[in-house]
Amino acid sequence: MTASRTETDLTSDATGFLRERLSTLKQAGLTRKLRELKGEPGPKVCWDGRQVLLLCSNNYLGLAADERLKQASLQAVENYGCGATGSRLISGNLELYGNLERDLARFKGSEAALVFPSGYQANLGTVSALAGPGDAIFSDALNHASLIDGSRLSRAEVLIYDHCNAEDLERKLASRPAARRKLILTESVFSMDGDLAPLEDIVCLAKKYEALLMVDEAHATGVFGPTGAGRIEALGLQQQVDIQMGTFSKALGSLGGYIAGSKELILYLVNHARSFIFTTGLPPAVLAASAAALRVVEKEPQRRKALWRNVAQLRQGLLKLGFDPGPEQSQILPLRLGEERRTMAACRLLLREGVFVQGIRPPTVPRGTARLRICPMALHTDDDIQEALAGFHKLRSALFSPKRRAASASMASAAAPSQPVSTS
Ligand SMILES: Cc1ncc(COP(=O)(O)O)c(C=O)c1O
Repeated sequence: MTASRTETDLTSDATGFLRERLSTLKQAGLTRKLRELKGEPGPKVCWDGRQVLLLCSNNYLGLAADERLKQASLQAVENYGCGATGSRLISGNLELYGNLERDLARFKGSEAALVFPSGYQANLGTVSALAGPGDAIFSDALNHASLIDGSRLSRAEVLIYDHCNAEDLERKLASRPAARRKLILTESVFSMDGDLAPLEDIVCLAKKYEALLMVDEAHATGVFGPTGAGRIEALGLQQQVDIQMGTFSKALGSLGGYIAGSKELILYLVNHARSFIFTTGLPPAVLAASAAALRVVEKEPQRRKALWRNVAQLRQGLLKLGFDPGPEQSQILPLRLGEERRTMAACRLLLREGVFVQGIRPPTVPRGTARLRICPMALHTDDDIQEALAGFHKLRSALFSPKRRAASASMASAAAPSQPVSTS
C-alpha cells in the first residue's frame, strides 16, 4: 500500500472483483435480477401493471392466498404478536410449534417431527449433523443446493451417483465398506426436472448396505399420496425412510422446513443441528398458516385432482404444439431449450403474451440444459390453460418457423423491463 493512494482507491481495489464477476455473468447471459410482483399469489399475478398467468410458482395447490390460511395467520398475530423473540431453545418455542409438529408427525406417519425456519435450513442442519469426517454421503447428481451445501458443511466424503440410477448408487455404496456411517440423500420429486427417484430400489439398497436414508419431499408433499403426505406415503415406505424432509413453502403455501422421523432422531437434531439451534423461531402467523394448510391438504383431495387435470391438459397441449415437456411424472413440466439466452428470450416472449414462466439457467441446472420450468396450479381454469397454450403457440412460431433465425433474433432483443430471477 502506497501512502499516495486515496481512500476511494482502496475501496475500489477491494471491491473490484464484484464488477469483474458481474461482468462475466453478463457476458454469459447469466445475470439474475429480482422481478417485483404485486398483489396476492393466485393463478394470475400483477406484474408490471398487468395481470399475467402465473405458471412457474411452487404454490401448486393455490394455498398461499387461501382464506383459511389468512384467517389463521391474522388470529395468531392477535393472540401471539409478530415475532418469536428468540431461538426455539431459548425463548422462541411458541406453543404453536408443539401442535404443528404433532400434526405433522401424524401426517407423515412418523413418531415425531421438527420444524426449521426453512427447507434450506432443514437440509443444511440435518445433513451436517448426521454426517462428519470418516462418513460417506451418497448424493443424487441432481440434488438440490441445500442438500449439497449440507454435505459440504459436514466434511464427510461425498460420492455423487448418476441421477436416479440405483445401479450406480449400489456401485458407490459397495465401494466404501469402511465408512463409519453411510447416508443416502435423494429428492423424491426432482425440483427442476419433475422426475421421480426410484425410492423402492433406494430403500432396498439402504437396508442392504446399512445406510441411513434421507428423502427430500419438498415437491411431493401436498401433491402425491392419498392424503397428500408425499411419495413416501404413496409407496407405503414411511417406516423404511429414516429421515423424511419437507417444507411448508411449496404446495402448503406457507414457510418452514421440517424433518419427520423417530423421537431419537428429532432429539438428536434439537441438540446437534446448528441451523435449528442458532436461529430465531418462525413467527406465529407463519406457524398458524402452516397448521391450517395441513388441515386443508388432508381434507381436500379434490385440489390434487384439479392439479393433475391441469397438468394433463397443459402437457397434452404442449405435445400437440410440438414441444417436449418430458414424460408424465409430476406437476413440474420442464421445457428444455438448452441455451441460456434463447431460454430467457422465450421467457420474455411468453411474458409479452401474458404468460409468466420462469427461465431456469445454470447454476440452478447444468450448463446447456436451460429450460422453462412450467408448473400449473390447482386453481387454474380451463380458460387459463387455453390462454397459456395460445402463448406457447406464439412461442412455437418464433422457435420453429422457417424464419426462425430472424424470429430468434427478434426474441432475443425483445424489450423487457427486467430480467427474471430463478425461483429455485
Ligand atoms: C428439493 C428442495 N429442497 C429444499 C428446498 C428448500 O426449501 P425452502 O424454500 O423451504 O427453503 C427447495 C426449494 O427451493 C427444494 O426445491
